[in-house]
Amino acid sequence: MSKKLIAGNWKMHLSVDDSRSLAEGVATSVADYTDSVDVVVCPGTVAITEVSRALKETPVQVGAQNIYHTDEGAFTGETSAVQIKDHAEYVITGHSERRQIFHETNEDVARKVAACIRSEMTPILCVGETGYERDHGETTQVINDQLATCLTMLVASDVEAMVVAYEPVWAIGTGENAKPDDVSRAVATIRSTIKEMFGEKSSQGTRVLYGGSVKADTAGSYLDLEGVDGLLVGGASLDENEFVSIVERASNGG
Ligand code: PGA
Repeated sequence: MSKKLIAGNWKMHLSVDDSRSLAEGVATSVADYTDSVDVVVCPGTVAITEVSRALKETPVQVGAQNIYHTDEGAFTGETSAVQIKDHAEYVITGHSERRQIFHETNEDVARKVAACIRSEMTPILCVGETGYERDHGETTQVINDQLATCLTMLVASDVEAMVVAYEPVWAIGTGENAKPDDVSRAVATIRSTIKEMFGEKSSQGTRVLYGGSVKADTAGSYLDLEGVDGLLVGGASLDENEFVSIVERASNGG
């Protein structure tokens, strides 16, 4: 069983000062659990250097919420993996908010995933179906299509070292939890698609998370599922006590 990973996605919340305080609070409160759980916080880009400095001597790692796929150039307003890599170990890619609000395609996500790997960061690739796709029985197809394109620029060893998060779009920020059985099915789909594309070793090595309205009182029902290696937590990661309870639950055998 791989070490569980709990990642908090702070989205476009918190000032730089508030981000630093939350990061410091989390680092202190999770200190007893980080031998058995990997903990990552993903602040807004403006706070990333400050948070990374605050967490330097702690086991809590930093993730970026987005990068641009080119390493350098005239791309006003964008931030590259090369610029972020000294401050973050992980990058969230393919989040449904980026896909839906900013119209990122699977091809865009594939380039971002490749850029993370070029800069030796770990992508957390989000995949998942919309409510409409779920209601039309398209979940498996959607996940397969997303993985087929988003992983296309990688080799097996890249995939083994990365993270895939199953994030059904209808469960994100809605309070509507996915049923554990559905998560199990989706995680099995993710692993079997990776197996077809890259072989058994990659399919077992890739860490697969669940994300979507996870709270301290629901975390256990996902962490107990076979094949689920952790959680990507949005809203609940802004509340230190709630987030730390989720980390604590993951340390109790998951
Ligand atoms: P949520 O967000 O926990 O607030 O639903 C999850 C995510 O967007 O990764």
